[in-house]
Amino acid sequence: RARTWCAGLALWVCGSQGRSYRFMSPHGHGSDDDEAAVTAISNEEWCSWLHAELRACPAYATHGALLDECCAIAARWRTRFWGRKALWNRMRRGSRLAKELAEAAPVLERARLEAQSVKLEGGARVVVIDLCSGFGYMAMFLSELLPPDKVERIVLVDKAWARHGVERRPHHIDPAHISDPGWPIRLSTSHADLKTPSDRRSLLRAFLSRGCPAMLLGVHLCGTLSLRAVDLFNDSPSFFFLGLKPCCLPPAFFAQRGDVFGSANGHCFAAKAVAVAGKWQRGKWVGGASRQELQRKFAVWVDNLSRCVECDVEGGGGEGGEEAGGAGRGVVAVEQHRVQSLWLLNDFIFCSRPWAALAPRSATSAAHAAGPEASGTLAAVPAPNRSNGAGVSEARRAAVVANFDEARREAKRARRAGRRGDAERAAAERRRAAREGR
Ligand SMILES: C[S@@+](CC[C@H](N)C(=O)[O-])C[C@H]1O[C@@H](n2cnc3c(N)ncnc32)[C@H](O)[C@@H]1O
Repeated sequence: RARTWCAGLALWVCGSQGRSYRFMSPHGHGSDDDEAAVTAISNEEWCSWLHAELRACPAYATHGALLDECCAIAARWRTRFWGRKALWNRMRRGSRLAKELAEAAPVLERARLEAQSVKLEGGARVVVIDLCSGFGYMAMFLSELLPPDKVERIVLVDKAWARHGVERRPHHIDPAHISDPGWPIRLSTSHADLKTPSDRRSLLRAFLSRGCPAMLLGVHLCGTLSLRAVDLFNDSPSFFFLGLKPCCLPPAFFAQRGDVFGSANGHCFAAKAVAVAGKWQRGKWVGGASRQELQRKFAVWVDNLSRCVECDVEGGGGEGGEEAGGAGRGVVAVEQHRVQSLWLLNDFIFCSRPWAALAPRSATSAAHAAGPEASGTLAAVPAPNRSNGAGVSEARRAAVVANFDEARREAKRARRAGRRGDAERAAAERRRAAREGR
């Protein structure tokens, strides 16, 4: 078999049978014209096409067995939804299915292991929350991969779903594929804007108020959405697993107004350390920040996000831990899995911790709902209300930003000094000492 490219369309030449089929560009999203060719092929042929797409993804090298399994699952979907052409067209959408599946593979793999190994008591079953689900491929695959005897439901959370009881508008995602009754584990949608604190609280109240065991997943969460995912995880001790794949860095305005980012566990860092100018456009980075700056800041971003994660369960390890339903410490790790051909965005944050059958803290404590300042985690005078919601005091914010500025100046001096000879370095040091009145 050979594959050639022509004017944005992939031509798949089935050499052995002397037939050729036209498929969409892997960078496009398909059109009705393409569908004529696609519908002409058999399930087996479609499956081999999908398989070839997956084999071409960088994730195949490390997650090949899982992707093969998912390929067989997707082939079953084709049979299942075949009679509903418009719906199937939305589901298969060119190479999008293959791309999103491959990029979510490490989260799918870990989520399955966690669900299989979690110890449940008293008939408790797991709820899975898929943040910023988009169309919902990851949840759909999870429904087929997770053990149905242990997992009760998977909730797809996105601001693009219509609110329940509200008529769906054109900008909302059509949930017809999600509400289909054939999923092995029940799927449901939930509208929530993760940047709105009351939406986050309502989300936890709706699904975790009784402290049922839960896993929190989020793939391709842009900017501060990743921080909001960490906030949710920290807020609810009944989450025993976090699988997060951060996406774009926060935009430059956070740095311009001197923000800090942080979480209720007290960790915070300067927005300047991670915010960048520019944006992704069709898989290409357009804007101010250089590739080097992006790479450096992305590593800092992921590292700080992971430090914001609370992996010790309330009462864990100490007295009362057992009674609280959980015990001991968890573990948080940043893992690199090459899932995209891009030079960036291959970092995953995973946290496993014991399950504590407790309601979300924000549902039980007004002080916690008001942020770490009010709960006494951080120092007293509150900073102006900033959208990152870390609740850091003004004094601490100023200190964190000043420390960052000083560290950056020091690093610059060290770089310059490294380029100079000994004599020049000594002279520069004398000038600096004189300037600073030493
Ligand atoms: C890059 S897509 C990720 C979709 C999917 N997880 C994936 O991996 O392909 C980002 C999704 O986040 C959703 N989103 C953006 N801002 C949001 C917010 N403030 N609250 C909830 N969802 C949001 C968008 O509607 C979109 O579906």
